[in-house]
Amino acid sequence: MTSATDAAIPPNHHAHHPGFSGLSGLKAAVFFLFKRHEAAQLAIDLGELGAGDHLVDIGCGPGYAAALAAEAGADAIGVDPASVMLQVAKVRWLRRGIDWRIGTAEVVPVDAGWATVVWSLATVHHWHDIDRGLEEVGRLLAPGGRFVAIERQVDDPLAEGVAGHGWTPEQAEAFADACREHGLVDAVVSRHEAPGPVLAVVARHG
Ligand SMILES: C[S@@+](CC[C@H](N)C(=O)[O-])C[C@H]1O[C@@H](n2cnc3c(N)ncnc32)[C@H](O)[C@@H]1O
Repeated sequence: MTSATDAAIPPNHHAHHPGFSGLSGLKAAVFFLFKRHEAAQLAIDLGELGAGDHLVDIGCGPGYAAALAAEAGADAIGVDPASVMLQVAKVRWLRRGIDWRIGTAEVVPVDAGWATVVWSLATVHHWHDIDRGLEEVGRLLAPGGRFVAIERQVDDPLAEGVAGHGWTPEQAEAFADACREHGLVDAVVSRHEAPGPVLAVVARHG
């Protein structure tokens, strides 16, 4: 039996989530518009994002963090596999000038080298393939570009429901190792309150 503290639980243990669609997807999209400010601001701070940056938000959901980045003066592209998420994002952030695109972490529909910042918030635990996702991050980032992944800190990633959506410190460290293996440099794990406990992995283009 796998225990909650098993270091072998991968950072994408919810890869087989069925995806967001229909009424339940719409409810989730509206839900993800609230209480996201602290995590979005943390991503801005850790990614050192400011005016003139080019952001790709992988798994943007209904777009709170991409919208905050646009407000800070960045050009933002939000990418998500769930059309319901992007439909809500388009309506909610109508005048922010954000480009919303269907895609996944594994196939991001953005030109190589376009991004100065790539982030993925509360999403890496859903990535289907960590290796492909990190290859995409490396392809997207311009020299000097920054990558930020943030997840809620959880005690038991195998718990039912929302309680399992996030990372243990061991999973965050495993993801930082994977970043290094894929040529990203200066990969560091840090813990923050946003507003509950979250774990962040920050790395740079090599
Ligand atoms: C918990 S929501 C987080 C949304 C947003 N990033 C936020 O912080 O509020 C997870 C998002 O990841 C998306 N997602 C699921 N699998 C994905 C994948 N393989 N690549 C990119 N995004 C994915 C979902 O559609 C969903 O919008």
